[in-house]
Amino acid sequence: MAKEPVRVLVTGAAGQIGYALVPMIARGVMLGPNQPVILHMLDIPPAAEALNGVKMELVDAAFPLLKGVVATTDVVEACTGVNIAIMVGGFPRKEGMERKDVMSKNVSIYKSQASALEKHAAANCKVLVVANPANTNALILKEFAPSIPEKNITCLTRLDHNRALGQISERLNVQVSDVKNVIIWGNHSSTQYPDVSHATVKTHSGEKPVPELVADDAWLKGEFITIVQQRGAAIIKARKLSSALSAASSACDHIRDWVLGTPEGTWVSMGVYSDGSYNVPAGLIYSFPVTCRHGEWTIVQGLSIDEYSRKKLDLTAEELTEEKALAYSCLS
Ligand code: NAD
Ligand code: LMR
Repeated sequence: MAKEPVRVLVTGAAGQIGYALVPMIARGVMLGPNQPVILHMLDIPPAAEALNGVKMELVDAAFPLLKGVVATTDVVEACTGVNIAIMVGGFPRKEGMERKDVMSKNVSIYKSQASALEKHAAANCKVLVVANPANTNALILKEFAPSIPEKNITCLTRLDHNRALGQISERLNVQVSDVKNVIIWGNHSSTQYPDVSHATVKTHSGEKPVPELVADDAWLKGEFITIVQQRGAAIIKARKLSSALSAASSACDHIRDWVLGTPEGTWVSMGVYSDGSYNVPAGLIYSFPVTCRHGEWTIVQGLSIDEYSRKKLDLTAEELTEEKALAYSCLS
């Protein structure tokens, strides 16, 4: 029997991540090659014409899995009946703007879109926030959509996770698919902690720990961490635009693993609502190692955290606590 289509919302769909992401979703990269989809694309009125152009291209591409396209500037129409919401739209930092000004714009966007999702999305809608500041936008969305279970609201740190896999694969000259279980802790910002203490590489003689294979603690604690933390800025410098294909691809990875499950023995990084695991303050959206089964993520428990890592986990938690306070100050 034919499967019912899944309705997937992409906000900011006329932007550059949107342009890379919607064809991936329509091709089955996110939900698999047998899952029909209906795309809901939202943008703001100045981008309406460009959004319509994206819709025209989706029709022209004749994707067999794509069963419909809603392209709109009306947030209620966009959110109605959606099963998955990928929140890419937001207000970018412009020259001369203070952090608080950018935060204030995004807080008001995420507050109103939270209400629309809460009222109009399908029950059990899964939400992934991509737009920066991703963790704090997700937290605001959670606060203003109290009837959406907190487990359903996440933010994207899978791009950082994939960047860490990529760096280890290049350094060791191994296939990226043979590297696993890196961790991104904390904020999707330059305070994030890319941690390879528990990461492994598949070799002919079994799985070997990354720290043992790299055998260069100075590189792992220095250049490796900085490259991953600063990769977004390096892409902006090179492209004069922020990462789009890798962000879109990682958003697909995030949702695919969340919905369809992580492979046995493998975890991924997701920004999720902290329950106090690893002594991270409860009530932040913080990136943890998670496994997923039956559409639910679970934080991987019991990993050893040495003194060096502890400081890094705390530093990025402090930044998120400050961002949370700033976001709340914009609400008053
Ligand atoms: P972009 O400027 O090309 O596109 C953003 C789109 O959002 C635009 O079309 C804009 O009109 C739209 N938009 C603005 N306000 C909106 C609103 N209220 N409702 C709906 N749409 C709205 O930007 P981009 O390169 O696609 O990046 C999008 C966001 O993703 C940025 O915040 C960027 O910093 C962030 N980002 C996050 C990650 C991550 O890993 N979490 C990676 C890369 C980029
Ligand atoms: C990225 O990690 O590529 C982006 O979050 C960078 C940015 O500031 O948009």
